[in-house]
Amino acid sequence: MSLTTSSAFAVYVHWPFCLSKCPYCDFNSHVRHGGYDEARFVRAVERELAATAARVPGRTVSTIFFGGGTPSLMQPSSVAAILDAIGKHWRVAGGVEVTLEANPTSVEATRFRGFRAAGVNRVSLGVQALDDAALKELGRLHTAQEALDAVAVARASFERYSFDLIYARPRQTLAAWQAELKRAIAEAAEHLSLYQLTIEQGTPFYSLHKAGKLVVPDEDRARDLYDLTQDICAAAGLPAYEISNHARPHAECRHNLVYWRGHDYAGVGPGAHGRLNIDGRRYATETEKRPESWLMRVEAKGHGLIVDDKLTAGEVADEFLLMGLRLAEGIDPERYRALAGRALDARRVAILRAEGAVETTADGRLRVTPTGFPVLDAVVADLAA
Ligand SMILES: C[S@@+](CC[C@H](N)C(=O)[O-])C[C@H]1O[C@@H](n2cnc3c(N)ncnc32)[C@H](O)[C@@H]1O
Ligand code: SF4
Repeated sequence: MSLTTSSAFAVYVHWPFCLSKCPYCDFNSHVRHGGYDEARFVRAVERELAATAARVPGRTVSTIFFGGGTPSLMQPSSVAAILDAIGKHWRVAGGVEVTLEANPTSVEATRFRGFRAAGVNRVSLGVQALDDAALKELGRLHTAQEALDAVAVARASFERYSFDLIYARPRQTLAAWQAELKRAIAEAAEHLSLYQLTIEQGTPFYSLHKAGKLVVPDEDRARDLYDLTQDICAAAGLPAYEISNHARPHAECRHNLVYWRGHDYAGVGPGAHGRLNIDGRRYATETEKRPESWLMRVEAKGHGLIVDDKLTAGEVADEFLLMGLRLAEGIDPERYRALAGRALDARRVAILRAEGAVETTADGRLRVTPTGFPVLDAVVADLAA
């Protein structure tokens, strides 16, 4: 099977450190009270970039994303050094999107100006809630006002910004979420990420939930909250372009679109994932998660890869479905056929269509309907089976 090398190429840089660990979060994020050697981690990221570029030379970088953890804890000079390294190894597209995830607790205007000067042109802030009691329950170190102040700094510093909220929280009523979301929309510009609280295994929230001490909305209530979210955002001109992401037209996060559209991305830093087309085959890469182990690996070998798998045609096609059907634009069934070596099962598509879970657009794309989105996992499982 041969895959055409797509034009979009993204670089993801994972910065794994946080000031404290939020009890709901299972991202690869770590607290180091004793500190860590930032310059040494930055040098290791530079080495991994060099190793990756040697495998996929000659690409043009269209988006860069500093994710975490909390990349806003980095010195602007560290961000600048990493961006310089990316520019040395690949051509960087003129209109490159460079996003940095920021935690409201680590936002100061001077640091933001530094990120801006380094080349960051978009920030994504983890606001999570505009309610002090909820923020406390989520283990956040900031108040609602501090989060709004951080949004104001972002607005003054960058031409593009987004922020995240978590909903379907314990005891959250429809009326309270409606008011909170409307307040958030008034502060938003072009993009909002709205995640339903998920109880992740291995987190303190998981243990509390299991012990009955943390009660989250049941399926029906969560569905009502989801529907309300869609209605309010669409009416405000911020429709969902992905199951949890809302944007004005053309203001989507281009970096995340690279993942969802099945294009290539290099992942560097501890626990980063990548997808690379090399000599007509698609590779799934993953680096060591533990920051210090990753650092030692990179220093010894030049990279921190612990997974570097050639994907089968079936795996590539399943991933294309899984990622692409999250998007409101859906997928091109012809691309699925080219990747899988077979068409989607027409009978299954017909059943899902009859149930109102999927539809075919005038230009032949297959997409999940508003009825299908709340049961997306089941729809994908059905189509991929
Ligand atoms: C990796 S975090 C980075 C943001 C930054 N560290 C912060 O917390 O401000 C990305 C986002 O994932 C979301 N998130 C993390 N764990 C979640 C969970 N269990 N349920 C729903 N959303 C979650 C949060 O909204 C968070 O802002
Ligand atoms: S939500 Fe953000 S700040 Fe909290 S632990 Fe996860 S990555 Fe760190």
